[in-house]
Amino acid sequence: MDKNIVAVIQARLGSSRLPGKMLMDLGGKPVIIRTIERVRRARLLDRVVLATTESEQDQRLAAAAREYGVEVFTGSEEDVLDRFYQAAKAASAQVCVRVTGDCPLIDPEVIDQVVSECLRDGCDYAANALWYSWPDGLDVEAFSFEALETAWREARLKSDREHVTLFIVRHPRRFRLRNVQSRETRVRDLHLSLDDAEDLEALRRIFEHFGDRPFSHSDLVALLHEERYADLRAMNKPVNTGLVTSLTQDPDRPDPRKTPARDVSKSLAFLSRAGAVVPGATQTFSKKSSSFVPGASPLFLERGEGCRVWDIDGNEYIDLIMGLLPVILGHAHPSTTRALDEQARKGFAFSLPTRLEAEVAEMLCARIPCAEMARFGKNGSDVTAGAVRVARAFTGREMVACCGYHGWQDWYIGTTTRDAGVPAAVKQLTRTFRYNDLGSLQALFDEHPAQIACVIMEPVGVVEPLPGFLEGVRELCSRNGALLVFDEVITGFRTARGGAQEHYGVTPDVACFGKGLANGLPISAVVGRRDVMKLFDEVFFSFTFGGEALSLAVAKATLEVLDSEHVVEHLWRQGARLRDGYNALARSSGLASVTQCIGLPPHTVMTWTRPGGGDWLELKSLFIQETARRGLLTFGVHNICLAHGDPEVDHVLEVYEEVFPLLQWAAERGEAASLLDGPSVLPVFRQP
Ligand SMILES: Cc1ncc(COP(=O)(O)O)c(C=O)c1O
Repeated sequence: MDKNIVAVIQARLGSSRLPGKMLMDLGGKPVIIRTIERVRRARLLDRVVLATTESEQDQRLAAAAREYGVEVFTGSEEDVLDRFYQAAKAASAQVCVRVTGDCPLIDPEVIDQVVSECLRDGCDYAANALWYSWPDGLDVEAFSFEALETAWREARLKSDREHVTLFIVRHPRRFRLRNVQSRETRVRDLHLSLDDAEDLEALRRIFEHFGDRPFSHSDLVALLHEERYADLRAMNKPVNTGLVTSLTQDPDRPDPRKTPARDVSKSLAFLSRAGAVVPGATQTFSKKSSSFVPGASPLFLERGEGCRVWDIDGNEYIDLIMGLLPVILGHAHPSTTRALDEQARKGFAFSLPTRLEAEVAEMLCARIPCAEMARFGKNGSDVTAGAVRVARAFTGREMVACCGYHGWQDWYIGTTTRDAGVPAAVKQLTRTFRYNDLGSLQALFDEHPAQIACVIMEPVGVVEPLPGFLEGVRELCSRNGALLVFDEVITGFRTARGGAQEHYGVTPDVACFGKGLANGLPISAVVGRRDVMKLFDEVFFSFTFGGEALSLAVAKATLEVLDSEHVVEHLWRQGARLRDGYNALARSSGLASVTQCIGLPPHTVMTWTRPGGGDWLELKSLFIQETARRGLLTFGVHNICLAHGDPEVDHVLEVYEEVFPLLQWAAERGEAASLLDGPSVLPVFRQP
């Protein structure tokens, strides 16, 4: 039986910044009627109800709405959650959709998308604002009546009764939350809701243009990109200030607290010992103590099992870094240790190739769309450098266009702030373009006609490609005689069985794989079109350990487990729970404009933004410190593996639930640095 889906639009005449705004004129109709008319166009809704208060003032609003044939419910003035619940109950809602009256640009298609997500199996609550990928003013939430009833029955905090869905959003372990993301990132910062007189003027200009014609989100985006609306694009205001006030002023909210430090003294002592003989005390920048908070964070690990690791002080952590992503099945996964043991007994490295090289190459060719042949390296940097060299040999050209991070070799690292030691002559051969900006790539081709050997890029990083972007890059490469190389060192084996090229349906000429291929053993692969790959017969890509047998044997076992255990699906599922749960908790703690967890679920990262812009490293450090003290090893990433099961995901969310109020407290007062037990983290690359 189809569910009864009811939109409850919340509105009242009282408003601190623009009293009476709901009845103000917007292109010939009151604001609230504009909102309701647009909500009514959503195809999946059975009923639309306006919920307002029983106050005398709001009777005017109720009467005006009834005149337009709108069904009105009036309820408690103080207890907003009760008002909403009673309205939904009176309408026999099974699925409730929440929209606020001050969003007259609300989009019916977006409502349908959010409702569809909520109707998917096992979802209790779906929204499009768990993190901000849509403009403010398009916010929609859809949730089951049961979830609403639970919140109505159990919510005690004043702030939970003032914000209808706060209780649900604060409990991502109890309720299955999902976020619907926009791929149109250009308009993410737009402010399109009605808060003050300036907004009203802006909205009037928009309705003047569209009149009574239905218009979609894309029509709106197109309009706002016209030059005469440039001032509207610049209207970027802080969002959710009401929520932050109500959270901080809630007398019943528990005090945020630091948790006692763990003993990491052995880590600290070993740092001095290692630093005396190992520059930087590590082999990898991202593993340096400056990526963590010495004094609070573990700095050296001893062992790992599944998704857990133990530091040299004996503390246990849930690992969210997983060796910087290669450990895709979990530390010491039995199938991989078995394959390793068996091969170890046969020998590690031989004077002739083993069968393993061709066997693993066949497995890669069977799963990766562009792969007709494969060669192996040890690090991601080996194969990105190999891809660049073969592209130069194939095209007879020298220049390279890149975008993103591609490893430590001269050809790439010369484009970054860590370019010490790279000859100027080498630097001049690599040019960068901007992701999601075809114009910036076109400009490189125009500037260097018939000189670019290849475009090398990650098909997706933490920002998704705009519709048509990857296809556009493919087209530009083909048209200009350059090879397209996808760097799938991170995305390969995580995004889809055949990498991000399979996920997005865009096939490069050559692709590079690394992390994840052998669950942490050192092996990488460059794969691609036969005519290009055949050149490796001549092009020098040859090293002692290229065919080392242990990694190949484990790669074979890993590829088998990736399929038999449906690992990609697992990474998406658990990654989405963590990402959406993180964002829900950040939002419900009033931190939405400070931190977000972004990216496709199998690999997400957190952003930390100061008010006014720029990375907020002290607050990020406080997060690293407080999560470490509660047993999480992270520097602001979710690198999901097969071993991250439901109990671990629940535990991580529980830690966030505890830590966010402290972060909010520190953010509000600008006091993050004073709460740190060690120096703040430093980025690997300086801001240019
Ligand atoms: C997208 C991408 N390409 C290439 C590399 C280089 O890989 P490696 O560090 O194994 O040399 C990395 C490493 O993080 C990466 O993220």
